[in-house]
Amino acid sequence: MLNYYTYIMAGIQKPRVLISEQNIKKNIKDLAHKITHDYQDKNPLILGVLKGSFIFMADLIRELDFDLQIEFIRLSSYGSLMESPGVVNCDEDISDLVNGRHVLIIEDIIDTGTTLSFLIEQFQAKNPLSVRLCALASKPSRRLIKVEIDYLAFEIPDKFIVGYGLDHDEKYRNLPYIGVIDPKD
Ligand code: IMP
Ligand code: MG
Repeated sequence: MLNYYTYIMAGIQKPRVLISEQNIKKNIKDLAHKITHDYQDKNPLILGVLKGSFIFMADLIRELDFDLQIEFIRLSSYGSLMESPGVVNCDEDISDLVNGRHVLIIEDIIDTGTTLSFLIEQFQAKNPLSVRLCALASKPSRRLIKVEIDYLAFEIPDKFIVGYGLDHDEKYRNLPYIGVIDPKD
């Protein structure tokens, strides 16, 4: 864990491209096509999990051709920089909004599955018409809790990724591509 940081601090390298802008665009178009087919006339509540999903969400919704509502949720978490949050907390107001709605959660990456399994469980208790999950990336080899991802753009190996909204210590969110920062990757 320490090595990532050491390499970055030393400015040894810029994140290597794992998934190009072009590739991201293509897979988002495909996802949007499926989502449009499934949610036409359902006026879903599209819930982005901040901060990591903001660029993915912005690009995805511009490909969706039907009425929808957008909200964002912020989860407070405890945990070190490159680890998943151990405890997550969701704002009560948003959790009440899901009542009687088709909810589509937009997340940046599913790692251990802890964050999303908690969130889905919390929403399911609020009487939604449906709850589905859309993620930019998933690392299945890291899963501790099973989570069903209804719409997934990329399945990736166990590497720490940055860019296109994802950060390491709040850096790299503005990269237009998905990169890896560990020189060994
Ligand atoms: P989970 O609860 O383990 O699924 O945690 C998912 C969260 O951990 C994501 O929303 C990210 O904030 C963070 N995370 C996990 N893997 C990565 C990664 O490779 N890059 C950046 N953030 C990550
Ligand atoms: Mg996140």
